[in-house]
This record gives sequence, structure tokens and C-alpha cells, in this order.
Amino acid sequence: MLLSYLRERLRLTGTKYGCGGGGCGACTVMVSRYQPSTKTILHYSANACLLPVCQLQGAAVTTVEGIGNTKTRVHPVQERIAKAHGSQCGFCTPGMVMSMYTLLRNKPQPNMEDITEALGGNLCRCTGYRPIVDGCKTFSQESNCCQANGNGAGCCLNGDSSPQRSENELPPQLFDQEDLLPLDPTQDLIFPPELILMAETEPQVSQLFRGDRMVWVSPVSLEELIQLKTSHPQAPLVMGNTNIGPDIKFKGAWHPIIISPTRVQELFKVTKTPQGVCIGAGCSLSVVKALLEGLVQEIPEEKTEIYRSLLQQLGNLGGQQIRNVATIGGNIVSAYPNSDLNPVFAAGNCILNVASKRGRQEILLNKDFFVGFGKTSLKPDEVVLSVFIPVSRQGEFMRAFRQAPRKENALATVTTGMRVMFTEGSSVVKELSIYYGGVGPCTVSATKTCAAVIGRKWDEQTLSEAYTQLLDEISLSPSHPGGQVEFRRSLTLSLLFKFNLQMLHKLWEMVWTGSLFAQLVDLSEEISSGIHPLPKQLLPSLQEFQAVVKDQSGDDPVGRPIMHRSAISQATGEAVYCDDIPKMEGELHLVLVTSTRPHAKILDIDISEALQVPGVVDVITSKDIPGKKFRTFTGIDEDILAQNEVSCVGHMVCAVVADTRNQAKRGAAVVKIGYEDLPGPVFTVEEAIEKQSFFLPKRMIEQGNVDEAFDKVDHIYEGAIRLGGQEHFYMETQSMVVVPSGEERELKVYLSCQHPTYAQESIAETLGIPSNRVSCHVKRVGGAFGGKVTKTSIIACITSVAAWKTGRAVRCVLERGEDMLITGARHPVLGKHKVGFMNNGRIMAADLHYYANSGNTADESLLVIEKILLHLDNAYNVPNLRGRSVACKTNLPSNTAFRGFGVPQSMLVTENMINDVAMMLGCNAEEQIREINMYKEVSLTHYKFEFDPKNLLRCWDECKEKSDYDRRRKSIGQFNQQNRWKKRGMATIPIKYGIAFSDGFLNQAASLVHIYKDGSVLVSHGGTEMGQGIHTKMQQVASRELHIPASLIHITETNTSAVPNTCPSAASFGTDANGMAVKDACETLYQRLEPVRKQNPEGTWQIWVNSAFIQKISLSATGYYRGHDLHMDWEKQEGQPYAYYTYGACCSEVEVDCLTGDYRTVRTDIVMDIGRSINPSVDIGQIEGAFIQGLGLYTMEELKFSPSGVLYTRGPSQYKIPAVCDIPLQFNVYLLSGSDNPHAIYSSKGIGEPVLFLGSSVFFAIKDAVAASRVEAGMVGPFTLDSPATPERTCLACNTPFTQKIPASKQGSFQPWALNIP
Ligand SMILES: Cc1cc2nc3c(=O)[nH]c(=O)nc-3n(C[C@H](O)[C@H](O)[C@H](O)COP(=O)(O)OP(=O)(O)OC[C@H]3O[C@@H](n4cnc5c(N)ncnc54)[C@H](O)[C@@H]3O)c2cc1C
Ligand code: FES
Ligand code: FES
Repeated sequence: MLLSYLRERLRLTGTKYGCGGGGCGACTVMVSRYQPSTKTILHYSANACLLPVCQLQGAAVTTVEGIGNTKTRVHPVQERIAKAHGSQCGFCTPGMVMSMYTLLRNKPQPNMEDITEALGGNLCRCTGYRPIVDGCKTFSQESNCCQANGNGAGCCLNGDSSPQRSENELPPQLFDQEDLLPLDPTQDLIFPPELILMAETEPQVSQLFRGDRMVWVSPVSLEELIQLKTSHPQAPLVMGNTNIGPDIKFKGAWHPIIISPTRVQELFKVTKTPQGVCIGAGCSLSVVKALLEGLVQEIPEEKTEIYRSLLQQLGNLGGQQIRNVATIGGNIVSAYPNSDLNPVFAAGNCILNVASKRGRQEILLNKDFFVGFGKTSLKPDEVVLSVFIPVSRQGEFMRAFRQAPRKENALATVTTGMRVMFTEGSSVVKELSIYYGGVGPCTVSATKTCAAVIGRKWDEQTLSEAYTQLLDEISLSPSHPGGQVEFRRSLTLSLLFKFNLQMLHKLWEMVWTGSLFAQLVDLSEEISSGIHPLPKQLLPSLQEFQAVVKDQSGDDPVGRPIMHRSAISQATGEAVYCDDIPKMEGELHLVLVTSTRPHAKILDIDISEALQVPGVVDVITSKDIPGKKFRTFTGIDEDILAQNEVSCVGHMVCAVVADTRNQAKRGAAVVKIGYEDLPGPVFTVEEAIEKQSFFLPKRMIEQGNVDEAFDKVDHIYEGAIRLGGQEHFYMETQSMVVVPSGEERELKVYLSCQHPTYAQESIAETLGIPSNRVSCHVKRVGGAFGGKVTKTSIIACITSVAAWKTGRAVRCVLERGEDMLITGARHPVLGKHKVGFMNNGRIMAADLHYYANSGNTADESLLVIEKILLHLDNAYNVPNLRGRSVACKTNLPSNTAFRGFGVPQSMLVTENMINDVAMMLGCNAEEQIREINMYKEVSLTHYKFEFDPKNLLRCWDECKEKSDYDRRRKSIGQFNQQNRWKKRGMATIPIKYGIAFSDGFLNQAASLVHIYKDGSVLVSHGGTEMGQGIHTKMQQVASRELHIPASLIHITETNTSAVPNTCPSAASFGTDANGMAVKDACETLYQRLEPVRKQNPEGTWQIWVNSAFIQKISLSATGYYRGHDLHMDWEKQEGQPYAYYTYGACCSEVEVDCLTGDYRTVRTDIVMDIGRSINPSVDIGQIEGAFIQGLGLYTMEELKFSPSGVLYTRGPSQYKIPAVCDIPLQFNVYLLSGSDNPHAIYSSKGIGEPVLFLGSSVFFAIKDAVAASRVEAGMVGPFTLDSPATPERTCLACNTPFTQKIPASKQGSFQPWALNIP
């Protein structure tokens, strides 16, 4: 594939690997081709991971390195994404840059829709997308927001919410548009003239590439293609490679011969006739989209019903990069069960033109064509030439609908094409054709339902019978692959209902225009809400923060929105991540072999066949570990490689090292492990409770007397909520290179991790050598979020053993699927509550139980369950409060730290309890219950920690005010009355989040600062740069303390040799601790320079430094920060586990489509108290990024396991993190003004983790909307909505007449496709 060719052969490492399957966009490049027929150049973005190099004959490929760099000139796209703060860890940035760059090559002045479409196939796990969109928006003429126009005065966004300012005072901006390079297309690379010449003059000849294991043939004529297909009927035709490619990579498909007909002109022909359009099978979906868009403009609207339905599907199919290469023929022949196009083609009577040695023929695309999973009635030697799409006839209407786990770039759960033709002048159905995808092994026809309707009038009676028929006809087994059986079945009905509404509307229009004579009632506004799409237009957003004080020196960067210091090099692809480190001499690759059994004894490990695989050098097992064979977390041992027993699917058993990654993979595939299954694996927390399978100790905390208090309350309610886990999905997978130095048992370890000291210690212990022989180096981390603390260290131990044993450098970079399988996730939690409250909503007693699914090892689970209990009060003062938590030991992969470390699970249970109280009391604005119970004055928490909630209340009040809460709450009520099928909901959620480690020793930090004779300064500190901007902040701190410009300061990699014994970059405490350590070193140095400054007050920094050297004053200093002495005594149930609290509040509003469960976050307003921000752009970046990650946790991201504990969700195709389509349409962030924090550097506050929980405001807003829908069904009072509130859960909870029709499968009578985790 092009990706490995670029990265390994050409050493162009700007193009990144994120998933290898076309789902993340990290590998985006621009492909340009000259079209001799039109003499034009076509530019399109494509995923290099799916692009076969053999297909690129005659094409020019532009990578991120090609468009600009820091040595010559940075391209405006690179600059603007960087300066708008759109690059945090930077791993997604080159891909974003290339998607946007390609758009600008085709359309230098794009509109907002173009921009969001172009970025739709690119994932970012850090930023929350808003800053990326804002950076790109500066190219758009459409943007009329003054923030984009670089003119802060009277900003259109400020409205009434901006603070009082004098006329000349501008609100501070995150970036200055004046400061941006103009886009000058004349500066862009030209298409290589030699390629034009080649295309014009050189005859096209067929090509053949022969590899070790396969032959690639690229014919140029149809005859040749047919000949090849006749000789090799089983050889696939590789066009876009978006189906074949992933099949080869992920399913192990192997084809000795591949035919690639991308140069066969006949496959690209487009013929327009009055009857329709015939589109060559080789046309990409983007070309088809553009063609149909043109036709819709050209021909009368009534003839374009099928075209518009296809456009509807194409708008959401895959991402831009996929649509640019995937072909229409490939889509049809791939016969995906949930193909979006096939139901439309089939319902629309489209025809395939097919050729083979036997001649040409036409095949009607109908139910007989799709014969099974990935199978059609085509003969193996047949080639699809084109597809004919007819124009629609008089009285014929067609619609397409789809519902997917994510609005864009996600295969549909259910997708459909529906076509009806009415008898002329009447509402009697002459033809009806309905096809569905996602409800069977292939595209299926609702033939019987259609037959039952044909010949009858299109009215309520007919349709209501049709639903019953449909339910009978499209039936799924309760164990159906993919699960979501009830949801899918209800979607078949509700999508037909949507079609019905549209047709009723159409018929009514026909009556109105006189083309139909019938008695029809117009649909009421309320009912027609089922037709309107959810809103999707992004509105300008506001980021409000305090300017620095007027008298602050212009050179002092603290408090200013300084760009991430590596943002530009991240955007140019020059930033070096672990796997970008050039290959070392003799380097080997390591691939892990993992257990396929959830719980079994290992009988033997047979590595003989693996050792025979060419290139394989060795296989590392536990026996090879020279030192400690296990790691100990919170007193519990965990094998580094399984020794006698495996306890989950994905448990690491051994590792194969080979000259190349592919060889190591092949070796790993033939390692044979003999197992003896052990009885009764445990997967869910219920099973763990039943079998008492726990990691001990359990934890408990209580204040007041809960049992007594329950006797005195007006009401008691008991409820529960399940919260699924969350995959970290850092864009850079676990990566490391271990290099033995060859003497004195030294190792250099380059790795992407949050805790290099822990990796160092672990490696040393594993190898049985002192720590002083191991140096760990972290330049930057492409996202971590808690997932690169313990898990990275264990894999680094294994890789080090391999390096140790072979004496060669060993690289281990996990593939996305391996990473997701092996490294665990956020702990899923079952939370139960019993709450006692008064009629006025005051909660007097609460008893909460938390069961965390830890997986097969303890890892940090015991600390997670403690943090769960410490945060269960959130912002509420419950006088009698008890919490119990336990870490359940199960046979799933071991879960680990994840941003928030248990808090997002803990507080969801608490807020859900509040929600239940509100619903019990019939209070339709649960915010009232929140307010009644909030801490109001200086108080003690349940662990007897005193604090003042003043700023918490300020955040809450400001949030309600800025979000215009009261007015919008009313208008939501009105909206819900007027819309039967769309409901709006709103929720405001507060947060009180404890900062720092409750184990006091983890709060220390150190630094090392050198001043060189030329005045330049080198800073080392213990924090790792993971996108959170710690190095940028450290540069700001050093600049302030040394009184020199930040440009003189360089922050070097995090290196255990420079700064030893560091603590993890976690707990939102990195800046607090390391900032103080850097400050300490700089203060020391500044003081040392005082004599020379006094001697020469007029001197410059460089002169002082030089004089100091001459006077033998040391220009190097260490800095140290002891940190807070925090503690928690679980025996006494009291302590001071936190240094202080970060407060905030967030109000979100959503609109839910009750028929499908789809939703949109219409608006989000966040007010955060982060003291005095050291860098508002970095902090707002953390706020927005964490919010979107929380939105993912609570509404989208679902880990799914098979009944035997196998993780199904192993890549972006199955696991959906938020994409650009998921950001709130209006997203405002306000930093609370006038807040001080005496407990942290420069009065700032930690902000990395807290806001993740505020993503739950979207969850509760959805729940609010669902409650409104349930009222329509006569259902009031508390109900359970588990997290994440996916479209499936949301739709089923809405309880529409369609979900009610689905008979529930009898529990226990079948095995569901997936486990119900936790
Ligand atoms: C990340 C991602 C997201 C996606 N999202 C969606 C989605 O939302 N909706 C959706 O419907 N699809 C989606 N897809 C599927 C995608 O649309 C199909 O994979 C694509 O259309 C197949 O076309 P291709 O040219 O890439 O086929 P290839 O992979 O090149 O070939 C696929 C198959 O088609 C056969 N074939 C190709 N052309 C011909 C021909 N002319 N005659 C005979 N046989 C032929 C080949 O032999 C092969 O078996 C997604 C795919 C990816 C990777
Ligand atoms: S690496 Fe290519 S799309 Fe993810
Ligand atoms: S900045 Fe986008 S993934 Fe980190």
C-alpha cells in the first residue's frame, strides 16, 4: 500500500498510520491525475492505507511534506490549522491538512458545507474539531463572523453575553486573522508536466507486477480484461480497494492474482439518454455524486426522484476519501448487507450491463441479484460495465433513508430505498418497491408488503396493514449478527412511516396543484415533524476568556493564547512520533501473539513453525524473561507474558520478532498454543457478583446515618444505570523502539507513553538490571488519555526482552485492532442507587453501589474505584450519603486509566439519581432539583474536606445566564408540543472535580534548566507532551521567570536520564507540578544572574549570560516541587485527597428524531472556573476536546464483546468516536473571570480531565427529549436509559408506536450476539 511505501521506502513519515482500514483519515494524501480526454487535472484526497502503489501509474501523489515545511514555506492550510489551535497531539493534523488542501485545490473559496464534507473522513481524538473547523473556515467567504474576520470590535458572536467593555477595548481573540498568510494558488505545486506528456503520448499498455506471493495485472482494454477474468474467474477486480483491501488486511483474505482494471476506459463511460443515465462501473462515488448533482439541476425535478434518493445516500456514505476512490461497480458487487446504494438501485429498477466471454447482457438489479452475504448472482467471470439509472416517471416517487451509529462516515444500521408509483390522477398504488439493507445477510426486498399495498389507496388503513405485514416479513433472529435486533426491526417500520409521511405530503401537494382529485387532509405541523431532517448547520461559536492585565509586559507570555509550540511542525508532518524514528541497523519488528480463549490453562506453546517463516528471528515467551516475570499493581501481580494460564481473549502469550513486520505477523499467525479451557468464564459484573470474583479490597464511605435517614423521608426510589466502557482511541497506537547500546547492559527506549519513569523501572526489573542502564525517551505522544501509563510499560518490557535476547533494536507498533484488543479501556460500571428525598426535592439520603468491570487484571482498578467514591457527591450536599465500590475480576481484557479515572462513571450515577428524583416529583426541569441540593456555603465533603463552593455556584449561574436557559427551556416546551416525532431536550450539569493525586508522593516534580552561552535555554521536565500543551506552558513559565522571550527557550524530550524519578502525566496535574519545578529552576538561575545584572544594568540577556560564565556562575539548575501532601485514610473515611477543585457547568440542548433515535446537539454552553489560565487557547482546547470525548462516551462509543468474550469492536469501522458531524452546532466556552487559586502555579487550575464529564449534559438532554416523547405514549415518571445513549437506546426508550410493535424476544431462549457489559 502507498502508506507503507511512503513511510518505509521514501521515509516520508508525515503521512500517518491510524487504522489501516480507511476509517480515520490520518493517512490522507492528494492524488492528481491528468485526464487526456478533457485535458484537465483531477485532484482528490485518498487514504494511503488503502491505495495500492501498483495503481498509481501516471498519478502524482502529494503528501503533507510536499505542500510546505518550516525550512522553506509553510502552506496557509498548515499555518491556519496550527494558529487556530487545531493541532494538539498533532497525529491527525497532516491528514486534516491534506483533506483541506485538496478541497482548496479544487475550490479555493469553499463554503462551510464543503469544509465539513472534506473533513468528514478525518478523525481527531484531541481537539473536538471546533478549532480545526475555525482554522479552515478562514478560507471561506461565507463566514461572516467577525472572529473569523479578525475584527473583534462589536463581534457578531458576543451578543449580549460579552462582558462590559469600553468602546475601544477588543475582546481577546484566540488567534488573529491579520496574522495569517494569504492563500495564493500560484504558489502550489504544479502537476508534473512529464506526466501530462506521458498521458498524451505514451500508448497505454497492460502491466504486470509480480510479488513474492501475488501477481498484479492491470489491463487497458476491455477485451483483455474479459480474457483475464475468463482465465482467472476467482481473481478479484480491484478498483477502489475499499472492500478487497480491508478483507486482505483484517480477514486474512489472500488472492494469488489480482486484476486491476482502473485503466480500462469502457468502465468510466457515462451516457445520458432521455430514459436515464448509464454510469460506468469504474466511476468513483464522488464522480457519481457530482454527475447526479448536475443532472438534478439539468432535468425537470419530477424526473429526478431516483437521482435525489441516491444523492441522499451518497451524502452520508463513507468519508470523502472513501467516496473518492470507491467505485459504483465495486459497491454493487461487494453486496454489503448494509450497502446504501443497493436498496436504492434495486427499488429504482436500475439495470446492470455485464460482459463476459459469452457476450453482454443486462441484469435487473433486484432481489434475485443479491443472493447472500457479499454474494450476487454474477458469474465469477463476469465484469460489470455500467449501471443504468432510469429517470422517474410521472406519478413515481422515491425516497432513501438510513440510520447509522454516527451521522456520517459510518455503515448504516438500517438503510432503505422505497419507490411508489401512483395510478395517474389517483392515490391508488400501481407499483411499490421497498428494499432494506442491514436486516439480513444481503439487500432484501419487502416483496409481500409491497404486494399487499399495490392496487390500494395510499392511506392510513393501507399503511397500518403494511406495517403488520412488514413486521412479519422482515424478521430477524434475536441472535442476528450485529445485534440491535429490536432496533433494526423498529427502524424498518419507522422508516416506512417516514416514507408514508412524505408520500402523504406529496399527494396533498398534488391535490393542491390540481394534478390529483381526492379528499386528502394536509399533514399537521405536528405530524410532519417526522419529515424534516435534523438541523445541521454549524453556527459561529464563542470562546471567551480574560485578557491579561494591562500592565503585563509584552514579553511575558503567561495568560496569553499562545499556539502549541509544535503545532506548525505537526501540521507540516515534520514532528517526529515514535514510529517516525528512522529504522536502526539490524532492527527487528515485534508482533504479539495473544490468547484466543477467555480462560484456559496453557498446555504448550509450539513455536517451531513460526521459526521456519522467512525473516523470523525468534519467539519470546515468559521463559525468556531474565528478571521479574510480573508487574505488581496495588499489591496484585500481573504476568508480563502469560505463564501457565490465560484469563482473557487478547491476553499476551508470546511475541514473534522478525526482520519485517509482515514476516513477524506471518510468524505470529502460525504459533500454536495448546489450551485446556477452564470452566465458567466471567464476563459481566452480574456474573462477577454471583461468583464473588473481585479484586480486593472493596471500598466504602459514609457520612451521616443513611439507614436512619431513609426512615424519615417522603419518598424513596431505587434505580440503576449501566455505563459502557470507552476505548482510548488515541490516534497514535502504542509504539516503541528499544535499542540495546551493546555495552554495559544499557538500553535506550524510545516510546510513546505518559510515564517514562514507570517504563524505565519496569524494564529494569524485567531484565534484572539497575534502572541506571535504561533511559526512556518521549519526544511526543500522539494522544494517550490514560491509556499509555501501565499498558505501554508492559509492552515495553516485552519488547525490551526481545531486544535483550537478540541484541538488536526492536520496534513494536501495534496495529489498531491489536491495540484495541490488548490494551483495555475505561471501566464499564453498573451503578445502583437508593435515594430518599422530600416533597420539595431535597435529597436527605443516598446509598450508591458501583460495580466496575476491571477485566482480567487489577491494573489501576483499585485506585479507580476509590476515585469513584471520592467524587460521588459531585456538586451536591447530601447529608446522609453512602457509597460502596468494588472492582470486579472478569475474563475480559484488563481495563485501565482513562481521562477522569472513574469520575465520569461515578458522577453519571449521581446525576442519574437526581434525574430520577426530578421525574418522581414530576418536575420537568431537573435543574431545580440540582439547585436545591447543591453545596451552597463553605462545607465539608463526605471525606471531611472543607471547601468553598462559591465559584461552583458562579459557574452554574453564569452558565444558566449565558445559555439563556429560562427562555430556551420554555421554547423547548413549545417545540415539543408542536412536534410529534422530533423532541428537544436540555440539561445543565455542574461539576466539582478534585485535582492532584491522592497519593501525595505522586505530586512531586523536577526539572532541569540549562542556559547556554549564546543565551538560549534548554528546559527538561518530567511531564510528557501528549497534545495537552504542557511543553508550551512550560515555555511560558520559563519565559516569565527568566524574563526572556519564549523564542529563546527550547523544551527538550522527556528523558529519564535528564530528569529522574518523574511522576505520570495524569490527574490533570502535569502543569501544576512541573510548572512549579520549572519555575523553581528558573528562579534559581535568575537569582544567580542577579550580580551580573547589577554590574551591568543596561546589558542584555546574552551579555549577562556570557559574563556569568566568565565569572564562573553555574548556568544550569535543577528545580524541584514537593507537591501537596495529600492523603486519604480509608479506615477513618476521611482525608485531603485533592489540592483543590476545578468547577464548571455545562448546558446542552439536543434535538432527537424519535423515529430513529438520531440526535443533534444544537447548542452547548460551558462555563469553567480554571483560575487564571496560563494559556487560554490550550485550556479551551482541553475543555472542548474533553467535552467531545465525553459526548462520545455517553452517546456513541460502544465496546462490543461476543458471548465468549471476544472484542468485536477493533477499529473505526466498528467503534465510532465523534467526528466533525457530532460537534454541537453552536459551541460556546467561557472561562470564569476573576477566579484565583492559591494552590497552583500562577493561580491557574488543572483542566485536562474535568470537562469530560460535562459531555453527560448531552446524555441528559437526550433523556429529557426522550421523556417528552414518552409522554406522548402516556408514560411518565423515571425510566432507565443506559449509557451510551446510542440511537438504538434512544429510539427504543422513546417508545413510539413502532417500537411498541416489536415483540420482545424471550430472555434465555436465545444467545444474544453481544454481551451486555458491564
Ligand atoms: C471506511 C469505509 C466506510 C464505508 N462506508 C460505507 C457506507 O457508509 N455505505 C456503503 O454503502 N458503503 C460503505 N463502504 C463500502 C464501500 O462503499 C465499498 O467498499 C466500495 O463501494 C467498493 O468499491 P471499490 O471500488 O473500492 O471495490 P473493490 O474493493 O475494489 O472491489 C470490491 C469487489 O467488487 C468487485 N468488483 C469491482 N468492480 C467490479 C466490476 N466492474 N465488475 C465486477 N466486479 C467488480 C471486485 O471483484 C471485488 O470483489 C465503506 C468502506 C470503507 C472502507
Ligand atoms: S490509517 Fe488510513 S484511514 Fe486510518
Ligand atoms: S490533535 Fe487530533 S488526534 Fe490529537
